[in-house]
Amino acid sequence: NRVLVLNGPNLNLLGTREPQTYGFETLKDIEIMCRATAEALNVDLDFRQSNHEGELVTWIQEARGTADAILINPAAYSHTSVAIHDALRAADLPVAEVHLSNIHQREAFRHHSYVSSVAYGVICGFGSLGYKLALEALAQKLKYRFD
Ligand code: DQA
Repeated sequence: NRVLVLNGPNLNLLGTREPQTYGFETLKDIEIMCRATAEALNVDLDFRQSNHEGELVTWIQEARGTADAILINPAAYSHTSVAIHDALRAADLPVAEVHLSNIHQREAFRHHSYVSSVAYGVICGFGSLGYKLALEALAQKLKYRFD
């Protein structure tokens, strides 16, 4: 099984960006942790980050046929992007939405995510552990594919 992990805008700055909100780990640290988790779950990982909405849309389109599930932290695009919503819907793959911070505890504009309604599950507030938990949930979902 192959999982595409997508990280949205500004997540390349993790480690230095508002560490009180997002922690001191870098995206590379999160990638290393995800790779270890994926290996234990016997899942192949494709781990990417982009600051560009259209690039994320293209990657989601390409996932159809090349990946079995998508883990996405859409970052700020969660709250704005109908295009990412539509692409995920079209991809027709199980989607796990992850946020490092608890978006419901923060500004009102972060309370709604366009991705959540097309996600199999949503995890927020547990920092990088959310990525690990989401990978486990997706691996489990793929193992027992009833839909
Ligand atoms: C985030 C939460 C978003 O509101 C924010 O725009 C981000 C990161 C998170 O992981 O907590 O960039 O997705």
